[in-house]
Amino acid sequence: MSNTMLLSPFQIGDLKLKNRVVMSPMCMHAADEDGEVTDWLTTHYTARALGQVGLIFLESLAINKKGMIGPNDIGIWADKHVAGLKKLIDKIHSYGAKVGAQISHGGRLSYVPKEGDYERLAPSAIPLSEDFPIPRALTIPEIKELVAEFGQAARRAKEAGFDILEIHTAHGYMLNEFLSPLSNTRTDEYGGSQENRYRILSEIIREVKNYWDQTLFVRISSNDYKEGGNIPEDFINYAKWMKADGIDLIDCSSGGIAAVKVNSYPNYQVGAAELIKKEVDILTGAVGLVETGKQAEEILRNNRADLVFVGRAMLRDPFWVRSAAVDLKEEIDIPVEYTRYGSNWFVN
Ligand code: FNR
Repeated sequence: MSNTMLLSPFQIGDLKLKNRVVMSPMCMHAADEDGEVTDWLTTHYTARALGQVGLIFLESLAINKKGMIGPNDIGIWADKHVAGLKKLIDKIHSYGAKVGAQISHGGRLSYVPKEGDYERLAPSAIPLSEDFPIPRALTIPEIKELVAEFGQAARRAKEAGFDILEIHTAHGYMLNEFLSPLSNTRTDEYGGSQENRYRILSEIIREVKNYWDQTLFVRISSNDYKEGGNIPEDFINYAKWMKADGIDLIDCSSGGIAAVKVNSYPNYQVGAAELIKKEVDILTGAVGLVETGKQAEEILRNNRADLVFVGRAMLRDPFWVRSAAVDLKEEIDIPVEYTRYGSNWFVN
């Protein structure tokens, strides 16, 4: 049993994670042309499972081929994807980690393979900046279709055996575009007031819950970093509504709605996770330049968030959990294969 919160088990709903370390979702653009899992992806994720990560989020999974974030994203837009995802999940499970699916639509930032192949869709016909193509505003029937597509993605995630599902509402993609007044100027029931901008997410959560009865996260962009955009305080209301709709944890990221440079520094997004956790009494996840065990432990011990998502540091170091344990002067479970010639060298 560890003396740290970071390396102790964490129960969320029916699910027990072996520690509070989460591999943050990160697109690798390494699926095949049809969105199928490849050997490279299997090796990449399994390495982090061997590295003792408690919860591994696969990268953003496209709910519609036309909503991919980039080329060669992993797909969850068709039933054919379930078998490949299941094989990957079974493999990760066999090394003791739990697996999360992040489901997404790229909205106005969707990847279009060849210019003119199809239109980018968004809440309103507003580009990210002059350098970006102008998207077409979704019609109401297209909004209903989008809601249904999120539901179908959730059904496939359930069939594939994921442990946790996250709805991607961050980084300037479709659902973030609905939440932000900078990208949503609709005058119907999906725009205008904060309640209206939230409506599509509420409908998606309810649709997803028709197929998904397990733990459900939302990733948000808590700050648009631009006058007139969302700020962390706006998410007190949003988070109350998400909690009422049955969301278990809010994963607090930021940025993507405005073409501005984000001033990032260690723990730069943790304030939003802390604010939402305290004001709304809901579990939160902290992410963003959390790079050491001590940084992560501080967040948890001071009750600023409940899970710590690690991104780039986990790309550099598949054994980030071990590095965090060394930083915290703790021990972690060691793959038995590594203990055969004595175990101390592994941690020290
Ligand atoms: C990302 N990030 C990201 N976020 C997300 O919600 N879905 C995604 O698919 C991706 N893809 C992605 C790819 C790559 C290569 C990077 C580096 C990042 C953001 C990521 O999950 C994380 O929030 C940020 O990287 C900040 O955390 P770190 O890297 O400072 O720990």
